[in-house]
Amino acid sequence: MAEIATTRKEARLDGQVAMVTGAGMGMGRTHARVLAKRGAAVIVHDIDAKTAERTAGEIRAEGGSAHIAICDVADVAAIHREVKAAERALGRIDVLVNNAGIHNSRALEDIAEADLDRMYRVHVKGAFFASQAVIPGMKARRSGRIIHISSAWGVAGNHIDSHYCGAKAAMLGLAKAMALELHPWGILVNAIAPGMVMTEMTRINRKPEVLAEFADKLIPLGRLAEPEELAFAVAFLASAESAFVTGQVLSPNGGEFIVGY
Ligand SMILES: NC(=O)c1ccc[n+]([C@@H]2O[C@H](COP(=O)([O-])OP(=O)(O)OC[C@H]3O[C@@H](n4cnc5c(N)ncnc54)[C@H](O)[C@@H]3O)[C@@H](O)[C@H]2O)c1
Repeated sequence: MAEIATTRKEARLDGQVAMVTGAGMGMGRTHARVLAKRGAAVIVHDIDAKTAERTAGEIRAEGGSAHIAICDVADVAAIHREVKAAERALGRIDVLVNNAGIHNSRALEDIAEADLDRMYRVHVKGAFFASQAVIPGMKARRSGRIIHISSAWGVAGNHIDSHYCGAKAAMLGLAKAMALELHPWGILVNAIAPGMVMTEMTRINRKPEVLAEFADKLIPLGRLAEPEELAFAVAFLASAESAFVTGQVLSPNGGEFIVGY
C-alpha cells in the first residue's frame, strides 16, 4: 500500500486565491482568516467597507494576504465588477465562499413582499451571480471550488422565519445543480448547512437565555458552534482533501437534527 498522505499538505491552500462574501463580520470573517492561515490570498468582500477593512487588517497582521471588495452581493453588475477587479489584481479566483447573509426573525403573516424579496436577493441571487462571475476563470483553469453557506434550517425548516428557510433551501438546490453542471471543468460545488453559530446575527436575533435553553433542549452537544468550527469545514471543502466531494451538504450542527433526539 502506498504511504498514507499526511493531512498537512493536502489541507494547505498555498498559491490559491479565495473570495469570501460577507467577510466583514461573523462566520465570513473567520472563514477568511482561516483560509488565509492555510496559505490562500483572500478577497474580503462585504457590503460594509469598515468591517471588511478590519478583517483584511487582521489577515495582514497574521501574515496573510488580503484584497478588499465592497458591494451589495445582490447587485449583479457590482459583484461582476468586483470579481473582475479582484481577478485583475490577483490573477485568479480558485475558491468562492458564498457566505453573505441576513436574517430577520418573523412569523409568516408578518413577512412583507419586500422582506421576502430581500431575503432571496441576498442569499439566492447573491450566491448565483457571484458564482456566475467566477465560473469563466475556473472553467479556463479547469478547476475551482464553490461553497454555498446555507443553513440547517434550509434542510430541516424551522417553526418561524419561512422566508429565510426558503432562501437557504434554494441554495442547496443551487449547489446540487451547479455540481452537476460544472464537474466537466473540474469545478466542485458543495453546501454547508450550519446549525446555530455564535455570531452577531445570532446575538442580535436571540436573547442569551433563549440561546442557552435552545442549546440545552435541542442540541445534543449542548452548545452553539463557534465560527472556527464552521471555518474548518469551509477549509476542508476548499482543499485537496475534498477532491472526491461534490454536490454534498455538510451540516455541522452539534447533532441538532438527529431524528428522535
Ligand atoms: N449564525 C448562525 O447561527 C447561522 C446558522 C446557519 C447559517 N448561517 C449563515 O451563515 C452566513 C453568515 O452568518 P453570520 O451569522 O456570520 O452573519 P453576520 O450577520 O454575523 O455576518 C453577515 C455578514 O454578511 C454581510 N452582508 C449582509 N448582507 C450583505 C450583502 N447584501 N452584500 C454583502 N455583504 C452582506 C454583513 O455585512 C456581515 O458582514 C449567512 O449566510 C447566514 O445565513 C448563520
